[in-house]
Amino acid sequence: MQVPTPLHLKSSTQDIKNRFNNDVERFSNLETGQQTTIDAAYNLDLITEGIVQCHPQLSEVLDLGCGAGNFSLKLALQQPGFNSTLVDLSEPMLLKAKERMTGVLNGNITTIQSDIRALDLPGNYFDTIIATAVLHHLRDDEDWQMVFSKIHRWLKPGGSVWIFDLITHDNPQLNHFLYNNKYGNYLSALKDDHYKNAVFEYIDKEDSPRSLSFQTSLLKQVGFSSVEILHKHLCFASFVGFK
Ligand SMILES: C[S@@+](CC[C@H](N)C(=O)[O-])C[C@H]1O[C@@H](n2cnc3c(N)ncnc32)[C@H](O)[C@@H]1O
Repeated sequence: MQVPTPLHLKSSTQDIKNRFNNDVERFSNLETGQQTTIDAAYNLDLITEGIVQCHPQLSEVLDLGCGAGNFSLKLALQQPGFNSTLVDLSEPMLLKAKERMTGVLNGNITTIQSDIRALDLPGNYFDTIIATAVLHHLRDDEDWQMVFSKIHRWLKPGGSVWIFDLITHDNPQLNHFLYNNKYGNYLSALKDDHYKNAVFEYIDKEDSPRSLSFQTSLLKQVGFSSVEILHKHLCFASFVGFK
């Protein structure tokens, strides 16, 4: 098994920002979502429909690492009455997300260009927080602990956080099987082996995902009263925590 790149040698926040500044179109497709992500479109529907069902009186929604706004846009198409706060490192992503939501959403759109780790928002304010394909950019345990605690603090009582992301598995053999073998086959079938290797190289350089059990335990540890798995397929999972 290949030794993963240590955290301190992975892409810097500036590297990540530069890369996403030049990748806006790839994250702007509502029909497919992001194609390297397994079941992207399915989870886009599952999470946005789940939010509508769980929060019929939705008024404030925070989208962390919103990218070009796929999840917030899909939510606004179903329930256009909320105020949206969009956060991303990348200004071109925020501009695209705002442009796509303008005319669909009836509420206000606030954009904040920031690293989630540096973000300061009011407590007990949001009904729902969306964090899709972004938390895998967090690095050490302190990052994860701090960000999950903030998410909990920013939510109103009864509020919810909806996460969909690349995950690891704590058992190395299982991780190798589900990630290298099975997800590898998925990527090769999407294009070819060269493409698979390029995606794996990029993930190793840029991302530091954590297991589902690490994340669900941490959600409970920081105060979420219930945590539910929505969907898991190989190394991608969606789950929700209620404050
Ligand atoms: C893979 S895209 C996902 C976009 C969107 N959430 C989606 O699911 O379509 C990740 C986004 O997170 C942003 N991002 C990465 N690290 C971040 C951080 N530390 N703080 C804020 N945004 C971040 C990137 O700029 C990028 O737009």
